Amino acid sequence: MRLLVLSALLLALAPGLLAQPARPVVVAHRGSSGYLPEHTLVAKAHAHALGADFIEQDIVLTKDDVPVVLHDLYLDAVTDVARRFPGRARPDGRHYALDFTLAELRQLEVRERANLKTGEAQYPGRYPAAAASAGLRIPTLEEELTLIQALNRSTGRIAGIYPEIKAPRWHRDQGRDPSRVVLAVLARFGYADRTAPCFLQCFEWEEVRRLRGELGWKGRLVQLIGGSGQSADGTDYGWLVSEAGLKAVAAVADGIGPALGRVVNWPAAGAPVQVTDLVTRARALGLAVHPYTIRRDDLPRHCPDLPALHAALFEKARVDGAFTDFPDLTLAHVRR
Ligand code: G3P
Ligand code: CA
Repeated sequence: MRLLVLSALLLALAPGLLAQPARPVVVAHRGSSGYLPEHTLVAKAHAHALGADFIEQDIVLTKDDVPVVLHDLYLDAVTDVARRFPGRARPDGRHYALDFTLAELRQLEVRERANLKTGEAQYPGRYPAAAASAGLRIPTLEEELTLIQALNRSTGRIAGIYPEIKAPRWHRDQGRDPSRVVLAVLARFGYADRTAPCFLQCFEWEEVRRLRGELGWKGRLVQLIGGSGQSADGTDYGWLVSEAGLKAVAAVADGIGPALGRVVNWPAAGAPVQVTDLVTRARALGLAVHPYTIRRDDLPRHCPDLPALHAALFEKARVDGAFTDFPDLTLAHVRR
């Protein structure tokens, strides 16, 4: 009884805790992107309905400094921009969101992601490209947060948010500051400290430090770590996973978001999974570990199937959560 009263009190004081269950958390990667075109509001509403604990937003800026929810800096892979705005590409042939006003972006139709090299669907078994006329649009960050908070209220179940600031170095080189813009929006929507159901994430180490330092972000913060190489700002991922790197991350962030291969690997077909020591080392420093991305139609090399990937991550590596394109399937696993 005392426990019940305490829980009720905690929820009243910090409703965001509802988004942090005792089991590993399931982050809907770009929404329920295995079923609907990524980062559309229908994909976010669907992810909420499927029960995702957190719903991800990748964020870039428009020409008029509006934060919009879009994965790439450019529009070509998920919209009809080339047809609607001929002659607006940069010399590399791509149409950048930063070169278009929000009013212009609103004229674009969003469709299932295409492979720009082949022109074919990136994931052929997903939402049909021919259904592009469904009127899907690029949402602003404000529109998306409004939707999620409205669903939290109408369903009585709180889904958290997981915003990622995309390419801050690139934006700042062009005189823009997406982190500042995004933090202002998050504050307006009540995401301001660690009790809020929110993890802010970024691949760039300099920006993660800046968010915590100069920009004063008080909420939860995650350093993303690519599978190899460096991020656009020169962040050395190999260093980040070293003892010194992880300690530095733990001094400013609450967690890491590594590529799957930094946690689990299958060295050959039929071979058992190998689990790296990254989760153990990170958790010893107090860092949560949320790897990306679980896709049933794009499994890691030599991974036999989705149940094997789920078991490797949640039972063998014991991660604290994961990004998934199929939140219902991952939820079914972690709930078991
Ligand atoms: O942010 C976690 C995961 O989404 C990172 O990969 O490229 O899909 O943003 P990406
Ligand atoms: Ca992301």
